[in-house]
This record gives sequence, structure tokens and C-alpha cells, in this order.
Amino acid sequence: MRLVLKNISRLLMVEPEPKSWIAGVEMTEVNSIENGWLVIENDKIVCFGGGEVISFTDDEVLDCNGGMVMPAFCDSHTHLVYAGSREREYEDKIRGLSYEEIARRGGGILNSARLLSETTEDELFEQSLSRIDEIIRSGTGAVEIKSGYGLNTSDELKMLRVIKRLGEETPLTIKSTFLGAHAFPSAFKDDTEGYVRLIIEEMIPAVAEEKLADFIDVFCDRGFFTVEQTDRILEAGIKHGMVPKIHANELDYSGGIQVGVKHNARSVDHLEFVGEDELAVLKGGKTMPTLLPGASLFLGLTYAPARKMIEAGLPVALASDYNPGSSPSGNMELIMSLGIMQLKMLPTEVLNAVTRNGAYAMGIEETHGSITPGKVANLIITIPMPGFGFMPYSYGTSQIQKVIINGKIQ
Ligand code: NIG
Ligand code: FE
Repeated sequence: MRLVLKNISRLLMVEPEPKSWIAGVEMTEVNSIENGWLVIENDKIVCFGGGEVISFTDDEVLDCNGGMVMPAFCDSHTHLVYAGSREREYEDKIRGLSYEEIARRGGGILNSARLLSETTEDELFEQSLSRIDEIIRSGTGAVEIKSGYGLNTSDELKMLRVIKRLGEETPLTIKSTFLGAHAFPSAFKDDTEGYVRLIIEEMIPAVAEEKLADFIDVFCDRGFFTVEQTDRILEAGIKHGMVPKIHANELDYSGGIQVGVKHNARSVDHLEFVGEDELAVLKGGKTMPTLLPGASLFLGLTYAPARKMIEAGLPVALASDYNPGSSPSGNMELIMSLGIMQLKMLPTEVLNAVTRNGAYAMGIEETHGSITPGKVANLIITIPMPGFGFMPYSYGTSQIQKVIINGKIQ
């Protein structure tokens, strides 16, 4: 059966031929059709256009009431499978402790690891499922989710199995990432090499054996994994069929961008510290710089220099980083608002960053991220807005009327 959307004031991100990413000055361009319609068959976009739509008697017709239609968000960086929450630590932060001091006291990632080890796989699934329902309502149609709160083989596998089950039991497109190298567990505090060996020799083969991860990620930053350790972990992941992604340069100039690009990482993420060297390394590569302004907002840290990157001709993706420690929100409309308010990006640049470039950052650019015939029908219908810029501008107030995932109204 066909689902026909009519009475659309503007169809945004229309692309007859899909592009893989959009960079530099082109990020300001968004193709659109005024007074449009769009036809979905099963879970795919079939065709669209402007003017009156012709519908048949057995079509289901959805009146968009003059709202805009755009691709659903592709959130390419989250840690949304976690147990419990960490709002108490936030109080410590208000009292003056830094993110790294909290981590050194066994808080931070290690606190989440303890909570996760005390939580059964089913309970972890239920907690994560409610976050999935929440992000679907907020317009996300595809999401990447990382492990990294297990920090031992069985708990890492537990997280990855939950991610797999979420992919099977919810309509979202989900990509999974093995992030055993997220922090050093207390037992390896004085033997970081021992933990790196455990990741390489035991965890990566076990994850690959069960085919649980598309990507391998490392937190390569001051006080966490060194460039040399990152290099070896990525190599081991690649050997087992995983594609690299990196957490880099959140806390300092870590060398993480360089080691990521060297290994053809799909994306390097965070990037609060980016200088001329980092820009030069990214230029000409195939790695998507992915910025996470929610973490800068929540931790009160520096924002990534998005303008510098776009002006250097680079593409930029924006993601939520949804996690209990540095960004406890998966709200991509808020991320768009931070894009304009803090990263000084234009609304059209932000739209490209949360759709097409986000899709590239998670390896699904051929099927998601734009309104293109044959792509998956993951769409947002907005309430009527004076122009697209109204969505990021009206921060804190959702402009979403309906969400369609895999061709189904949610
Ligand atoms: O992306 N930077 C490392 N990891 C997460 C934070 C995880 C946590 O604090 O639980 C991040 O910000
Ligand atoms: Fe992260």
C-alpha cells in the first residue's frame, strides 16, 4: 500500500541523486520543493514533486497541514545503552570538580560500568528501549550506539547484544560500535598495557565472533588512551572487519585525529581542540569530522571550531553524544539549536550536518539522510513554520508534528 503525503509547504533536502557528503561552502545549500507531495511505498520513498498530487482510492493519504517535510535525523554518535544515571556527579561538578577529577575518584565512566555490571541484560534492554522511544519521538530515524560501559569482556558483550536486540525489535536503523577502549577499569589502573592486551586479544575476537559491531572506537585523549595504544587497537579492530571511529581532541590536542585519519576512520568525533595541523590532516581524507555540542554545553567546555572547519572546506556532522556523563540528551533539535547559537553555523549548514553528513558518519549515506527515490522513508513532518530556520531558532520548543520511520507513522 502507498502512503501519500500531501499539503507540504516545503520538502527539504531533496536530492534526485544521492551525494555521499556535503562540505565547505556547499553546506549552505539545501534543495527544496515548495507546495509539495511525497509518495511512500512499503518502507521506501518512491517519488515526490510540487503541485497537486494524484492519489488512488486504496492509497492512505496523510495531510501535512502545511508543515515542512525533511529527512529524519541521523544521530551518528551515542552511548544510549547505559544503566541508571549520574545526576549526583553533576552536583559534584557544580561544587567545582572537573570531569577528569570525577573520573579519577571512580566516578564518571567507571561509575556507569559499576551500575551496568549490576544490571541484567533484560533490564538494560528495557532502560535503553525507553531512550529509543524518546529519540524516535524527537525525530531520530537512525542512530549509532556504542558499548564502553562494560570494560570487561562479558559486560561489553552484554551491551552489544542489547544494541543488536534494539536493532531487531525497534524500527530505528541502528549501527553498533565496540568501545572497550572507553576508560581503564580500576583493576587495570596501574597496568594500562594489560587492559589494551585484553581488548586486542580477548574482547575484539569475541565481539567479531558474534558479529556484534560495525565500528571500533577508542577514547584517544589526555588521561585516557594514548596514540600508540589507539593505533594498535584500531589495527586489531580492522583485522576483525570493524571500521574505525575515534573520540578525539575533547580534552586536548591528543593526536587522535591524526591516528584516526591514518586508519581511514569513518569519523573523528568531539574535536573541541583543532588547529592548523588537524585541519590539514582532515583535508582530502574520507573521514567525517563530527561535533558534539551537547557535551560542550553540559560540561561547560570549549565548543569545537565548526566555522574554521567549514571555511577550510571540510564537511561537518553534528550528533548528540547521548550518554549519562557528558550529554544526557538525545534531542537533535536542541543539537541543531546549539549548532546555530554556539557553533555559529547557518540553519542550512546545520540541517546538512544532522541528516546527510550524519548518515555518512555512520556508513548509511546510500540509504538515509536525504529525500531521494529509493531511500528509506524516515521523515519528519514539522508543524507549519515561517521558514526552515525557525526550527533551530525556536530552541527548547519542538517543531515536530509527526515522525515517519520505515514508511510507518509513529
Ligand atoms: O563522548 N568522551 C568520552 N565518552 C563520553 C562520555 C562518557 C561518560 O562520561 O559516560 C563522551 O563524552
Ligand atoms: Fe561519546
